[in-house]
Amino acid sequence: MTDGKSNTDIQQNDTELAKLVVEQKLATQDEVDLCLEARLGPGQDARNQSLADVMVVRGVVTKGQIGRIKTTLEATRGQQIPGYQILAKLGAGAMATVFKARQISLDRMVAIKVLPRKLSENAEYVERFYREGKAAASLNHANIVQAFDVGEAGGYHYFVMEYVEGHTLYDELQTGKVFTEDEALQVVMQIARALEHAHGQGIIHRDVKPKNIMITPDGIAKLADMGLAREATDIETAEAEAGKAFGTPYYISPEQIRGEIDIDFRADIYSLGATLYHLVTGRVPFEAPTPAGVMHKHLKAPLVPPDHINTALSGGMGQIVEVMMAKDRDRRYASTSDLLIDLEAAATGELPLQAHKQMDAGTLSMLQQGAAARQGGPGAGGVAGGVNLLTYVIILAGALFVSLIVIIFLIARG
Ligand SMILES: Nc1ncnc2c1ncn2[C@@H]1O[C@H](COP(=O)(O)OP(=O)(O)OP(=O)(O)O)[C@@H](O)[C@H]1O
Ligand SMILES: [Mg+2]
Repeated sequence: MTDGKSNTDIQQNDTELAKLVVEQKLATQDEVDLCLEARLGPGQDARNQSLADVMVVRGVVTKGQIGRIKTTLEATRGQQIPGYQILAKLGAGAMATVFKARQISLDRMVAIKVLPRKLSENAEYVERFYREGKAAASLNHANIVQAFDVGEAGGYHYFVMEYVEGHTLYDELQTGKVFTEDEALQVVMQIARALEHAHGQGIIHRDVKPKNIMITPDGIAKLADMGLAREATDIETAEAEAGKAFGTPYYISPEQIRGEIDIDFRADIYSLGATLYHLVTGRVPFEAPTPAGVMHKHLKAPLVPPDHINTALSGGMGQIVEVMMAKDRDRRYASTSDLLIDLEAAATGELPLQAHKQMDAGTLSMLQQGAAARQGGPGAGGVAGGVNLLTYVIILAGALFVSLIVIIFLIARG
């Protein structure tokens, strides 16, 4: 996609790319020039096809070679961040590329997230990127990837954070691993503590998922990428974003899918629940051929209880996941601390009492609704309940009275 780029930008990128292809002896200058001509020739719009695409289509270079060259190009650009020495590319997500770097002044390893140029030119996104930095910087917790710095250099915006040695939870799931109840609890409890800290400061992560959970070689879980984080009270931003669904469909909460504006901590509880579901069953909670299909299921499809898929799981674990993933957020945990109480109980083999409380409250409200419906309207349930109880008491008292008479009669007869 080259949307939003000026022709000058495209030409500059092409020149750098062409130079590297020739320098690395992947193609001759003549071959590259022919590709450039084909791209810029009469009737062609340079914005529709990149030089890289033309070179791959014409078989001048392979897709893999172009991928490696682009990485080098991005790293070279990153090297221009003053005070940091870029060492390697750590990975790339949907929006940015993350590099490992050395902060020269403090001689420490850091991770730098660099926005691609096209996003650096998007004012709305850049503003969100800085907000992410600010929100993350106000947090300090052993289970949260620490934010260090935000800035701009050479037209590129970047975000400097703690470098986490290790891998993501997503990498572990990719191997087909299904976590035991205990293994899953050890990870999820740490992330719940990170969330309890963030939620306590009014910050919602909004994108909790295995890709954003890093595991160090010592088994410490760290919540990364406060990518969509923002202050929960930032209603203006929320309104600007209303109607747009952010996040990844496999773990996103129903209210985020609906584009609701008052997203709160319960959205993170849902996403952590979906992550826990994936860990202990080896599958995501809802699967469909398209993202829209997955989202529809989050909204409408009943959840197959995790303990039905993995029968080794305790019933308590099933209840915790079901309460975390209730479609109606009023039926989820009332606080992240309540969730932690249950996770800690489950880890010591005790019953999840907070989940029971939520489930009982849900059942009670369903019964009340049912009674109201039978009586033809809301509010009637209470009156109907009172009448029924009175009837039962009268019948019971009557039965008692009759038995007493019979007993007295029998005693009198000797
Ligand atoms: N602080 C860090 N330390 C070490 N590696 C990191 C760090 N942050 C991110 N990474 C690596 O960089 C990769 C890309 O991260 P990024 O946040 O851009 O995208 P993502 O979370 O994988 O995906 P998405 O774009 O869907 O959110 C991660 O998957 C991870 O492997
Ligand atoms: Mg991430």
